[in-house]
Amino acid sequence: MSKRILVAVAWPYANGPRHVGHVAGFGVPSDIFARYHRLAGNKVLMVSGTDEHGTPITVQAEKEGVTPRELADRYNAIIAEDLQKLGLSYDLFTRTTTQNHYRVTQDLFLQMLKTGAIYKDTMIGTFSATTGKALPDRYVEGTCPICGYAEARGDQCDNCGNQLDPSDLINPRSRIDGSPPVFRPTEHFFLDLPKFKDQLAAWIDSQTHWRPNVRQFSLNLLDNIQPRAITRDIEWGVPIPLPGYDDKRIYVWFDAVIGYLSASIEWAQLRGDPRAWQAWWLDPEAQSYYFMGKDNIVFHSLIWPAMLLGYDAGPLTEGKGRLNLPYDVVSSEFLTMEGKKFSSSRGVVIYVRDVLSRYDADALRYYLTIAGPETQDTDFTWAEFVRRNNDELVATWGNLVNRVLKNAYNNFDLVPEPGELSEDDHRILNAVEAGFDTVGRLIETARFRAALQEAMNLAAQANAYISEQEPWKVIKLDRQRAATILYVGLRVVDNLKILLCPFLPFSSQRLHEMLGYRDTIAGPLVFEEVAEDNGATHRVLTCHPETWGGRWEPSNLPVGQELKEPQPLFRKLDPKVVDEELARLGA
Ligand code: MF3
Ligand code: ZN
Repeated sequence: MSKRILVAVAWPYANGPRHVGHVAGFGVPSDIFARYHRLAGNKVLMVSGTDEHGTPITVQAEKEGVTPRELADRYNAIIAEDLQKLGLSYDLFTRTTTQNHYRVTQDLFLQMLKTGAIYKDTMIGTFSATTGKALPDRYVEGTCPICGYAEARGDQCDNCGNQLDPSDLINPRSRIDGSPPVFRPTEHFFLDLPKFKDQLAAWIDSQTHWRPNVRQFSLNLLDNIQPRAITRDIEWGVPIPLPGYDDKRIYVWFDAVIGYLSASIEWAQLRGDPRAWQAWWLDPEAQSYYFMGKDNIVFHSLIWPAMLLGYDAGPLTEGKGRLNLPYDVVSSEFLTMEGKKFSSSRGVVIYVRDVLSRYDADALRYYLTIAGPETQDTDFTWAEFVRRNNDELVATWGNLVNRVLKNAYNNFDLVPEPGELSEDDHRILNAVEAGFDTVGRLIETARFRAALQEAMNLAAQANAYISEQEPWKVIKLDRQRAATILYVGLRVVDNLKILLCPFLPFSSQRLHEMLGYRDTIAGPLVFEEVAEDNGATHRVLTCHPETWGGRWEPSNLPVGQELKEPQPLFRKLDPKVVDEELARLGA
């Protein structure tokens, strides 16, 4: 039975081009997951967009001397193009500055106010002693009152993971000029997290399919849960839909998580079926998988679920109760760069677009999957990138395809008619076809590295089979037996093409065409212009999976199908590029 699966991917800030660390943890993994489920016949809705509000945007806009809107426009375009080139197959990659997003955010705000999930209170605001302006949380630092860490930020302690308010900090200071901030009363709205503590605890406790660290971390944070201010004294953000709050805006994190829902609604409108999103959000059988870096767990495992609980029977549910809570919260660890923390200011950075200008998307996708930060912090090194590309991707999978296709094309130029299959022939075919179960199951449980390793092991076995059978020798003695070997080889390659497609979509498509097929397994990813009510437009990245031909099932390669002249699937990299890249780094 076909399932509904929402793939909800963390929204990158539109405050700069994305570096490989950003796509390693959740970009590529979520895409593997979505592509697999589509091939397997499930109904996937994969949404994200750029996160365009709050101080991450205003601070950078000030640095670049442009308005927040201009900054968001610039980086939304750059980020979306990078993600397209990397083959991330969003059903909708949009933005948080759309009218639709504002409407949905304000609807949630008002309904939660009605149910009491949000309340109004006076809090102590943090203001710069020097400028008198509100000082963003992350621009205040001091000692964590919970664990004593000396460099805690005003919004969060990176040491113990607890959410903080700037006034909680011991010895607070401005990160801009070091001056101690001024605290004075200001009226704000609060999300009443303690109200949901018991409900959340029971729910998380029963989520035994979550990665144990995510579940435990979330339960621990619940112990100390406090109400959170969800409005700020700033000018850039979603307006508060009530009179008298013109000088305040909704907090960026409150609106950003709502993006998963608003983007689903926007997608449905774009498809001309405005209620289509409901199948993923109201049907309790639908599953939603959220992908993010580990620093974002709390927003997805506690805050967003509390908001969904607090939206109880809101207008969007049409009286059908409640919007679905996350089914899984898949968080990744951090990626470092040649042993250092990524830092654009110190030049310790590799931008996705730079990598893609010099290397193939599949080479990067391969490396990030096989050596990425799936379960532990990992280090990106150029030496490993080149080694994995040359010794694994090219030497195993590329070599197998090359040998099989060249021999088949040169001797038959079509899929040859096999004779009776030998035991060895059956063995390799069965082994590879069993991959549809094993690789599929690993992807379903978000074990992407193990899944790719499994598929590559099968490619290695197939390579060994071809080496043993030596069709290039057999062809001179027994053309019928050579035809059988190459037929088996082609079927094996045709199977592996699908098993590897979630990971390596570009090369799988090229191989598909070399095998003589004319349709597309998956793709393309396209930009579409969306008109808003007020005449404005914005551009979204989207795809049309209903036109994709690929299926997660064993090959049915037709005998007699004409092959195309084979081209190498991957490029071998000159080890010299390691030094070139290291020289660029930090230059
Ligand atoms: N922009 C945030 C970050 O880069 C992530 C937002 S994820 C969402 O850390 F939940 F808000 F969508
Ligand atoms: Zn702490």
